Formats: sequence, structure tokens, C-alpha cells
Amino acid sequence: MKHVISITQFKDKNQLKQLFDRAKEFSQMPREKYPKPLAHATVATVFYEPSTRTRLSFETAIQNLGANLISTENAGQFSSAVKGETIEDSVIILSGYAQAIVMRHPEVGSAERAANASLVPVINAGDGAGEHPTQALLDGYTIYDNKGKLDGLKIGLVGDLLNGRTIHSLIQLLSLYDVEFYCAAPDSLQLPEKYIQLVEKNGAKVTLLDSWDTMLDKIDVLYMTRVQKERFEAIEDYNAVKDSFILDSQIMKKLNKDAIVMHPLPRVNEITIDVDKDPRAKYFEEARNGLYVRMALLEMIFSN
Ligand code: CP
Repeated sequence: MKHVISITQFKDKNQLKQLFDRAKEFSQMPREKYPKPLAHATVATVFYEPSTRTRLSFETAIQNLGANLISTENAGQFSSAVKGETIEDSVIILSGYAQAIVMRHPEVGSAERAANASLVPVINAGDGAGEHPTQALLDGYTIYDNKGKLDGLKIGLVGDLLNGRTIHSLIQLLSLYDVEFYCAAPDSLQLPEKYIQLVEKNGAKVTLLDSWDTMLDKIDVLYMTRVQKERFEAIEDYNAVKDSFILDSQIMKKLNKDAIVMHPLPRVNEITIDVDKDPRAKYFEEARNGLYVRMALLEMIFSN
């Protein structure tokens, strides 16, 4: 594997298991024992959209594995994109400095454009409302680590399923396994037909809901998402749906006692802080897992 653009590149369950097992090893390894497979390499992180988890976990992973890091955290403002430079030209330039490029950009398809121009591996760290493949990997790992399996699970997806790129990548990854999806969202934010067809083609059952009442006691994983204000053109449309699903300790009483609660974060108000102390809340662990999964992924890319 050279570039990581879409989660659909990960079709081999054995490869995924190897990646998850390696992430587990990294999570248990003392820092001084980390291998340095990226020694003498330079990796560039180029973020045209805000990020806390993805950028900083990638940058930590890059340095943990021995590489030099070059970074622009606000490429939309501080790179030559401001002067009109194309993604393609920027990536060709970066290919001369770095042996891999991690990029986040607001346009769907931008990662593929970058990969087509790049001379070195490009990792998609989120392309608009398109995909977020490394988030899907860390989400898959978090489910596997907590439940001990991915087959036979019922997954509840809640919130902004239209714009949530983490959802678009995760459902395609999980549909490699024997899973069932329950999608609870306001009508205007339901899962796009394109993704329903993709996962149904893989044999996964999808149930669309406008309320979560009937699914809470059935599901093994409750995957919450933020309603993405920045993707709305009119603030009235955002205000009309922003509070549709709020997980609090009262709703948690209705949730299956063995279920886990996930969220790619950041959250706004869709999970109240009283839920944080519930042992089923795994979203902070999920974010921490991002470091280990990204270390395992970088090691895999640089070993090929
Ligand atoms: N989950 C995620 O992508 O978070 P950031 O936007 O902070 O990177």
C-alpha cells in the first residue's frame, strides 16, 4: 500500500488484524522500546482544516517512530494556497522534502488529487465530508479491543450521518464483517443512499430511524457524532437539527449495559459531561488509540 486515501483500500481482514494487533502492542510498549522504522525520514503534516486529535496524534506517531516532522497547522492561511497554489503543485514541492505527506483538506476528493500528483505516500487525514480512513481504523480497533470481535455486532450510528466523514469510512470498514447498522438521524442528515448501497452490497443490514428509542437496548456500539455546523449554508437549518440527539445519563439508562459509547470528537453538546464517568463511555480511550493505530499504519507503510 502506498497512499491511504479511502478505507475501501483495506479489504483484507488478516491485514486489518495485523494492524490492530500491532496497535495493541504499541499501546502496551514502554516509550523507550519504540522501534525507529522511520529514522532518517521526514514526514509532512499539512492541515487546511482545524484538527486536534488527527494532527497531533500523527505528529506524535511520526516522532515516536524516529522521523523528522515538518508541519503547517493552518495551511489554508499560512501556506502558498493563499497565493493560489494548487494542491498538485504544493504536493509536488512537499515530495521533494518529505517521504510521506499527511493531509487534511475541506474539499471532497482532495486527497486523491494529492495522491495523483505526489511522488511519496499521501495519507488522507479527512477530505471535507468525504472520508477519514485513519479514524475508521482507530474506531475499528477500539471496537475490536473492547468487544474482542467485529463480527456479529449491532452498531448504532447517531447524529450527522450526511456530513460525518468518520461515519462514511467506518461503515465501509465494518461492512467487511457480519454487522448490522441502525442509523438514527434527522431526515435532512440521514446516511446518503450511496453509502447505504455500498454497505448493503457487502451484505450488511441497514435500518434508518428518526428516533433512537427502539435501538438503545439492542446495540453493542453507540457511535455518536457532532452535527457539523461548518457544513451548513444557513444557520437556521443547523439550529433546526442541532439538538436532535443528546446523550445524557438518563438516556444512558436505556442503553444496553454491555454497549460501548464512541464519538470521533470534538463533541459540542451531543454527549453531556455526566456521561464521561460511565464505564461504557470509550471516546477518550478511542482518541488515545489514534496514536497507536497511526504508529502501526506508518510502520506498515514504511516497511513496504
Ligand atoms: N476525530 C477527529 O478527526 O478529530 P480532529 O478534527 O480533532 O482531528
